[in-house]
Amino acid sequence: MKLPVYLYGHPVLRRKCADITPGYPELQKLIADMFETMYASEGVGLAAPQIGRNDRIVVIDADPVGEQFPECKGRKFTLINPEIEILDGEKVSRAEGCLSLPGLSENVARTEHIMLRWLDENLEPRQEEISGFLARIVQHECDHLEGKLYIDHISPIRKQLIKGKLNSIVAGRTACDYPVRYAPKKIK
Ligand code: NI
Repeated sequence: MKLPVYLYGHPVLRRKCADITPGYPELQKLIADMFETMYASEGVGLAAPQIGRNDRIVVIDADPVGEQFPECKGRKFTLINPEIEILDGEKVSRAEGCLSLPGLSENVARTEHIMLRWLDENLEPRQEEISGFLARIVQHECDHLEGKLYIDHISPIRKQLIKGKLNSIVAGRTACDYPVRYAPKKIK
């Protein structure tokens, strides 16, 4: 089932997520719904807060950017309770976007070399060294589980420059070609 994507300004995007425990109800359905939602909105990653759940689960299918970034070719993940260890390396600045911030893209500096530990869709532990743009996607999605967004990494000046666009999203004035859920209206 395709779910609406929660947009910037919604408090669910700012909460720290809880671990998935064995016996989590309808986990396979949640995973399937998250993939369906991600594909429908043409994203390469989606974290549970973006569909309104503060649980530590992320889906990624990086294949669509595989032409530009070969390390992404054919790479598809379900990350449950993921943990990232930043490995040595210089930070690289590249443009990122987010389904919760439609119409925006900003350069973000990240280390593109990480050790990722997670549970897969069967709750089996896995680990892998990941680099390049794939490591960036993983870091972006895992940030969501901490209540963080990529715009938290940009300079105050850049943030000031996009303030109008951010306010439009919060106010529900952003056009979007996938189903979305806006922030609740503030009562003054
Ligand atoms: Ni995002």
